[in-house]
Amino acid sequence: MTHQRRLQIRNLGKSFDDALVLDGFSLDVAAGEFVALLGPSGAGKTTLLRCVSGLAQPDAGEILLGDHAMHRLRGAALRRAQREIGFVFQQFNLIGRRSALANVLTGRLPDVALWRVVLGRFPEADRRDAFAALERVGLLPQAWQRADLLSGGQQQRVAIARALVQRSRLLLADEPVASLDPEAAENVLSLIREIAREENMSVLCSLHQPALAARFADRICVLAGPEEAPLTNRGAPRIDASAEARPV
Ligand SMILES: Nc1ncnc2c1ncn2[C@@H]1O[C@H](COP(=O)(O)OP(=O)(O)OP(=O)(O)O)[C@@H](O)[C@H]1O
Ligand SMILES: [Mg+2]
Repeated sequence: MTHQRRLQIRNLGKSFDDALVLDGFSLDVAAGEFVALLGPSGAGKTTLLRCVSGLAQPDAGEILLGDHAMHRLRGAALRRAQREIGFVFQQFNLIGRRSALANVLTGRLPDVALWRVVLGRFPEADRRDAFAALERVGLLPQAWQRADLLSGGQQQRVAIARALVQRSRLLLADEPVASLDPEAAENVLSLIREIAREENMSVLCSLHQPALAARFADRICVLAGPEEAPLTNRGAPRIDASAEARPV
């Protein structure tokens, strides 16, 4: 792992109506580093991930993903920056009717001409990459299976394969294992950790189970819930310094 800063979040602020959700939140994620976000429901984990991805606009602060100032980008420039981000969500975000292979190939959509998408004809090199990614996540035998017929763990692995063909520099995962049984959850997190290291892909991943975070993440960042924070500073996140550079 290099120590190059891939993602820099500086003094991020975000409110909804009069509720302050993020207040002066800062966090760096190095290339290839897996950072877990913990915190009670409502602490702002999803809000943070949405701001980083450009799906929500912060009220204050900066988010730098490599050279992209995510907090400032709009339109085509934002979409270009988003191509460097892979997503895995709790609710499996695949196209159910399409095969695992087709879903992985959507990681290449912005690079592929529209007529090829319409006809389902992806360039040979992309198909090779997609098969390689499916093999990497252990799903080659399921390449032609409809995504909605795969198990939850398999669907999350398809989403990881999609991030691989997309050559994502950052993987944002919002409770990727919340709907999985313990064994599948461990498999998915272990795969995410391996791929982060092998591909030098940074990972920011919200989790509800501290034990899983401690086991799989390089570092843990705890967002305080509103009830935990002092009234003057509601919802302000803090970094659990004791969790820094946990051995894994
Ligand atoms: N679009 C929105 N409009 C208004 N309030 C919102 C919106 N999105 C989030 N919030 C509020 O912001 C706070 C943080 O929500 P968020 O979804 O980020 O929490 P979370 O840490 O992801 O919680 P959970 O663990 O339950 O997923 C909550 O109080 C929520 O109600
Ligand atoms: Mg959430």
